[in-house]
Amino acid sequence: MLKDPTRQAERDKMVDEQIISHGIKDPKVLAAMRRVPRHKFVPSRYSAMAYNDIPLPIDRGQTISQPSLVALMTEALALEGAKKVPEKVLEVGTGSGYQAAVLAEIVSDVFTIEIIEPLATKAAHTLAELGYRNIHTRVGDGYRGWPEEAPFDAIIVTAASDHVPQPLLDQLAVGGRLILPVGRNYQTLELHRRTAKGYERKIITLVRFVPLVREKQQE
Ligand SMILES: C[S@@+](CC[C@H](N)C(=O)[O-])C[C@H]1O[C@@H](n2cnc3c(N)ncnc32)[C@H](O)[C@@H]1O
Repeated sequence: MLKDPTRQAERDKMVDEQIISHGIKDPKVLAAMRRVPRHKFVPSRYSAMAYNDIPLPIDRGQTISQPSLVALMTEALALEGAKKVPEKVLEVGTGSGYQAAVLAEIVSDVFTIEIIEPLATKAAHTLAELGYRNIHTRVGDGYRGWPEEAPFDAIIVTAASDHVPQPLLDQLAVGGRLILPVGRNYQTLELHRRTAKGYERKIITLVRFVPLVREKQQE
């Protein structure tokens, strides 16, 4: 039997059996996970595994995160949803572009930075082919954020740093949320919220991400 090229049934099964069971409840996140075709973001040799809840290798020794973690991090950002208010989200670590697409299903504008140029180019191509017009891509060191577009309602970092980058805290709007893995080999997934008086921090779980690399290690 020929496989359905949209692979909708596989995506629905992934959401029903792997995402909801991880406690994800936000209907906007679940709908986005049902829509974004993850098989378009993984190398063709891994296509058959695209809807398993596992990270998969992409090029240049990098990975596309496991879907339940993408959903968990997206939900933790407590996004309003583009239909109600304009919202700007920054992602550091574009990788395949999959997380950016999930965000773009929910908010009005996604800004995403990738330090490895060929990955950024490939992700931009995939996202354009899929018709995402609200994702803005850039090549560079995301540690510095994207000052010209700040402040952001939410920032997500998908590579691990041993400390919280101050430029990212600075680029949060008041009320804005920053989620990122902090640590070396294993990391704690931390959620920071900017308040009128400062920042609040919450630890969510333990995770394992590839390291955040710096263009120039001067900071
Ligand atoms: C776990 S992968 C990201 C997965 C991606 N979010 C996705 O959906 O496919 C981490 C990515 O962060 C990138 N990265 C590492 N350090 C970075 C930095 N300083 N600025 C921007 N990107 C960085 C890596 O090259 C890698 O592509």
